[in-house]
Amino acid sequence: MGTPTTGIISIRSVVASGLLFLHGAQSSSAGISSGFDVLNYVNPLIGTVNGGHVFPGATLPFGMAKAVADVNTELQGGYASDNGDITGFSHMHDSGTGGGASLGNFPIFPQAGCPGDVLNNCFFTKTDRASQRINETVQAKPGYFAVSLNTSIHIEMTVSNHSVLYRFTFPNGGTNISTAPPVPNLPYSPLILADLTDLSDSRTNASIQVDSNSGRITATGTFGPSFGVGTYDLHFCADFKGARIRDTGVFMNNRAGSDPKSLQVYPDGTDSPPVPAGAWVQFQEPDQNDQILVRVGLSFMSTDQACSNAEKEIADWDFESLRTSAEEVWRQKLGVVQVDATGVNASLQTTFWSGVYRSMISPQDYTGENPLWQSDEPYYDSYYCIWDSYRSIHPLITLLDPHSQALMIRSLIDIYRHEGKLPDCRMSLCKGFTQGGSNADVVLADSYLKGLKDGIDWETGYEAVVSDAEDEPPIWSIEGRGGLHSWKSLGYIPTDDFDPYGTGPFTRSISRTVEYAYDDFCIAEMAKGMGRDNDAEKYVGRSENWINMYKSDQRSILNLSTTQAPNNFVDSGFTGFLQPRYLNGTFGYQDPSLCSPLYNFTSCYLNTNGHETYEGSSWLYTFYVPQDMAKLIVTLGGPDEFVRRLRYLHETPNLLYIGDEQAFLMVFLFHYASRPGLSTHFAHTYIPSQFNDTTVGIPGNDDSGAMGSFSTLAMMGLWPMSGQDVYLINPPFFREVNITNGLTGKTATVRNVNFDGAYENIYIQSATLNGKEYTKNWITHDFFANGGVLELTLGRNESTTWGTADADLPPSASTHF
Ligand SMILES: *[C@@H]1O[C@H](CO)[C@@H](O)[C@H](O)[C@H]1NC(C)=O
Ligand SMILES: *[C@@H]1O[C@H](CO)[C@@H](O)[C@H](O)[C@H]1NC(C)=O
Ligand SMILES: *[C@@H]1O[C@H](CO)[C@@H](O)[C@H](O)[C@H]1NC(C)=O
Ligand SMILES: *[C@@H]1O[C@H](CO)[C@@H](O)[C@H](O)[C@H]1NC(C)=O
Ligand SMILES: *[C@@H]1O[C@H](CO)[C@@H](O)[C@H](O)[C@H]1NC(C)=O
Ligand SMILES: *[C@@H]1O[C@H](CO)[C@@H](O)[C@H](O)[C@H]1NC(C)=O
Ligand SMILES: *[C@@H]1O[C@H](CO)[C@@H](O)[C@H](O)[C@H]1NC(C)=O
Ligand SMILES: *[C@@H]1O[C@H](CO)[C@@H](O)[C@H](O)[C@H]1NC(C)=O
Ligand SMILES: *[C@@H]1O[C@H](CO)[C@@H](O)[C@H](O)[C@H]1NC(C)=O
Ligand SMILES: *[C@@H]1O[C@H](CO)[C@@H](O)[C@H](O)[C@H]1NC(C)=O
Ligand SMILES: *[C@@H]1O[C@H](CO)[C@@H](O)[C@H](O)[C@H]1NC(C)=O
Ligand SMILES: *[C@@H]1O[C@H](CO)[C@@H](O)[C@H](O)[C@H]1NC(C)=O
Repeated sequence: MGTPTTGIISIRSVVASGLLFLHGAQSSSAGISSGFDVLNYVNPLIGTVNGGHVFPGATLPFGMAKAVADVNTELQGGYASDNGDITGFSHMHDSGTGGGASLGNFPIFPQAGCPGDVLNNCFFTKTDRASQRINETVQAKPGYFAVSLNTSIHIEMTVSNHSVLYRFTFPNGGTNISTAPPVPNLPYSPLILADLTDLSDSRTNASIQVDSNSGRITATGTFGPSFGVGTYDLHFCADFKGARIRDTGVFMNNRAGSDPKSLQVYPDGTDSPPVPAGAWVQFQEPDQNDQILVRVGLSFMSTDQACSNAEKEIADWDFESLRTSAEEVWRQKLGVVQVDATGVNASLQTTFWSGVYRSMISPQDYTGENPLWQSDEPYYDSYYCIWDSYRSIHPLITLLDPHSQALMIRSLIDIYRHEGKLPDCRMSLCKGFTQGGSNADVVLADSYLKGLKDGIDWETGYEAVVSDAEDEPPIWSIEGRGGLHSWKSLGYIPTDDFDPYGTGPFTRSISRTVEYAYDDFCIAEMAKGMGRDNDAEKYVGRSENWINMYKSDQRSILNLSTTQAPNNFVDSGFTGFLQPRYLNGTFGYQDPSLCSPLYNFTSCYLNTNGHETYEGSSWLYTFYVPQDMAKLIVTLGGPDEFVRRLRYLHETPNLLYIGDEQAFLMVFLFHYASRPGLSTHFAHTYIPSQFNDTTVGIPGNDDSGAMGSFSTLAMMGLWPMSGQDVYLINPPFFREVNITNGLTGKTATVRNVNFDGAYENIYIQSATLNGKEYTKNWITHDFFANGGVLELTLGRNESTTWGTADADLPPSASTHF
């Protein structure tokens, strides 16, 4: 998904990352032995303002618990680096959503005391309690988040897999208000509340109770998913430590009382947003250090399981040791990559490592937390969305954490077993909306071709992808594909399709056609690998369907007007674009630049009336034939003309928007036209100008780390053609990169000779693989699984020889299948 970020706000990153290493020389492995600590190069605040929607809080890799302060402004990721007020601290989030705000259920909120010691002088509703943060107090680190409110309460949090530990430090005596005059008559008697709400105010019914002896608060609520259908139930359990309990109770609206100790709320038909309600515990002065700890457990199963998750995972209430172990988990995860950062400034290093980090936030491991069916298989959720993540996140996880990727594949196949289809998007146990193809097919094929086994039932996996290709589901807006009848009989999705077999939005006929074609190619590859030759032939045949929407005489006139040069309409000079096509075979018309930033940029979303391309223009989608670039290049007039057109796409201001995932591949397609050097050149034009280490440092919403995976993969030099066993070779942005495979323990080294940190020598002149000359401009996953050394000799000018011969080009269906 791509919500464009608009305008430019120049807020530099709050965490200045390791200036010590500005001229950083040392080989940086993730350990801290050499004085290098990779965590100093992760800035979770990148992308937390201006539409990035990144979750910057405390989480473990793929963890279910994700804690952060929630703001009342740009709240999709919980927190934003803007001027919003903080309304609470909640325990679960999704990162980078382009849809609404997910989760954020049962926020807690501390107050040092109630003015005049009158309970109802405390603030209970989100609106009433919203407080500014004190600037410069935000600390975001892997496994840790902290901020001070303008009430001078300092809030810290760290996590385990399903639980959060908060540490609230109250101002001494309750009157030490740093940013304002002291509140008169504020006795020091902290009150902490838990609210039956979520970020998007989606709650329908809920219940909460507080135990007057222990202070334990348990709650259950029914909520809605942020980009999908249905509802989910979530359960919550909070325990407190550090102060004697003074009183307990519940609140409704802005009134509270100490009797009763529980309440239940139902939708009353008029309550949007739902009525504020929750429970509270008030304490005596804290025993030590003005601190109270709050331990929160979460579960999708029951409140009992929420409590036992917390009791098991945070038995000793030791904040520092929990934080240290969270940090250690991250060091280990990131430690499979080593870079020699000689000559590379701290800013680029932070861009790189933060990208790796954000690629490992989701999907979330909910194994043991799935109430929908019983299974011994792993259960991951927050595939948000596969339309975004198939292109680069899953290939990156496959490189860096193949075991987790295998668990995710198993969970996808188990979702198919129990729900009848693979998801294209899924969050909070609910089905999410499909945006184009059934792109889990690509994720499965990618892992299959890269040899992942690890307990994966590939037979059922194959059945699942074939089901996508063959069986139209009754509601294809949330799974599978629509228009399959036409797809099979006509070979494209007609713009005016007659499809009485299923329900879904009748838009995006062009982008669905090119995605279905690629999905079918991925099925063909799996079929071939499994010896199902007839299937392979059938699906590779369908993968050619993209060409049925190609209108060879279509021209494109671009509106390049600016305020300086109004009425500047320019014939791009290129002929042949994908165009709408009707059931009767005749072509319709959609301006090829429509839905590029040049022309009605945002009119191609799911929730608008929609057009025939999704979140992008026909200019963009005409290049999307990853299965058969050889044929596309011939179709568009041969290699020189193809290169001229692809350069034009990148070099014409506002024709391409790099902040949506379909654009990533456009950077690297030059490889197929014998110009690998141009892929390298354009990677450097986007990094760091569009992907960098500032809080605005990503050009679109992150979609669970997609923007991060782009910059990281591009900087490692190896661009995966997701769904194929192909990595396109470019020089890494570092002198040397090592990647150690978690399944085989083998290390792959990519080394640049003649490297310079100013990036003047960026063009590969020659290469060797394990000491032998290597002229192909691509490489297969074997290199990572078995290890080896790929050495690239760089120069200032594009080479006319390396990687340019026909035999050096990556495979295409029409020439290789
Ligand atoms: C805090 O920072 C925000 C964002 O940079 C800024 O808009 C605001 O004015 C600052 N507030 C104070 C009190 O300095
Ligand atoms: C804290 O921030 C809130 C929300 O902006 C504001 O209403 C309140 O007056 C502030 N309190 C202090 C002590 O500055
Ligand atoms: C958290 O979950 C991961 C699997 O996602 C598991 O490998 C790890 O051991 C768990 N950590 C703890 C502390 O239980
Ligand atoms: C209270 O305020 C004083 C003066 O601003 C400051 O030095 C001290 O650290 C504060 N104490 C706490 C616990 O915040
Ligand atoms: C809310 O009501 C629905 C439908 O009656 C029920 O399935 C769900 O469990 C209820 N949730 C809570 C928190 O009571
Ligand atoms: C990569 O691994 C090789 C072999 O283990 C080692 O000699 C080299 O120093 C490593 N490079 C980096 C950047 O850590
Ligand atoms: C051409 O683009 C300019 C600048 O974006 C815009 O103001 C104008 O309305 C556009 N003209 C047409 C005919 O779309
Ligand atoms: C084909 O169908 C389209 C859309 O209904 C219509 O506009 C067009 O006139 C038809 N063409 C022919 C040749 O029937
Ligand atoms: C472009 O946007 C304008 C303004 O919303 C609208 O009137 C026009 O119909 C749109 N054009 C297309 C092709 O969608
Ligand atoms: C960082 O990236 C953002 C978003 O793409 C961009 O607007 C900004 O200009 C970049 N900043 C720098 C210093 O390159
Ligand atoms: C870091 O290096 C890159 C590449 O040379 C350069 O574009 C960027 O401006 C540098 N950043 C800083 C903060 O010096
Ligand atoms: C690189 O190209 C420039 C012109 O673009 C040329 O002047 C220079 O001699 C070339 N350098 C080498 C080493 O070929």
